Amino acid sequence: MAIAGTALELASFDAERFRPRVLFESAAMKVVLAALEPEQAVDLHDPKVDVVISVLQGQADVWVGDAPRRMRPGDVAVIPAGETRGMRAAGGRAVLLHVVAPPPAEEAHAGVVHRPWPEPERPERDPAETIRAEHRELLPHLDHLDALADAVTELPEDELRNRLARVLDFLRSVLLPHAGAEDAALYPAVERVLRAVGGATRTMSEDHRAIGALIEELAELAAREPAPRRALQRTLDRLAALVRVHFGKEEDVYVPLLERLDAGEARGLLEALGRTPGHEHRH
Ligand SMILES: [Fe+2]
Ligand SMILES: [Fe+2]
Repeated sequence: MAIAGTALELASFDAERFRPRVLFESAAMKVVLAALEPEQAVDLHDPKVDVVISVLQGQADVWVGDAPRRMRPGDVAVIPAGETRGMRAAGGRAVLLHVVAPPPAEEAHAGVVHRPWPEPERPERDPAETIRAEHRELLPHLDHLDALADAVTELPEDELRNRLARVLDFLRSVLLPHAGAEDAALYPAVERVLRAVGGATRTMSEDHRAIGALIEELAELAAREPAPRRALQRTLDRLAALVRVHFGKEEDVYVPLLERLDAGEARGLLEALGRTPGHEHRH
């Protein structure tokens, strides 16, 4: 019988003991789904079996011949008979596909010795801490921006120009290079992991959360007497800027992807949007 499905639906996890699921076996081919709980592993061994391994979900370290390799969806390894293989989930659950053709005879695994995985290598420095440290350094400068915005209507012309020049210098010589470094290095690294573990749209949901918080802030300011005009102005400005950037991201990045849905998926999306308050009766 033909089989099609997503990795997570087809896989069966077992926290007690790793159990491969044979998805298909014929005289010509054996297809196995390996569902690994976090840190579950198949020890290193070298049976007389050719195998194709790919990661369908999550990420795993796969021993390919003479070295381990961090593999993610989109990666494939071919390991000829007699060469070493092994796998270990790396940071969360992983589902791997094994294809063996022809299916191994009993004697292929006879006398094969299993060796445990070596201890995983840890980086000397944590890149997450580097990013956080940079943001910690940048944040006080944003307070300067706020302070300048507050003072802009009252500052004498000379001082205003002076402070604007300093702010512009910071934005151009520090903030933009920081963003450029993230474009070049951080985002590509994160993108590879996102392919494995998902979460690419969480940044957008974070925008929604931030917009909600600003709306609450606005409501709180609006209730005060007398009206705190400067704070109101700042919050209104922030809300408008954030919502504009957010719409821009949705239209420039997400909307073009919708062309890649098939007819059924497009229909499903429209129905789901129709059921969502805020998307009804508006067009
Ligand atoms: Fe940043
Ligand atoms: Fe949105």
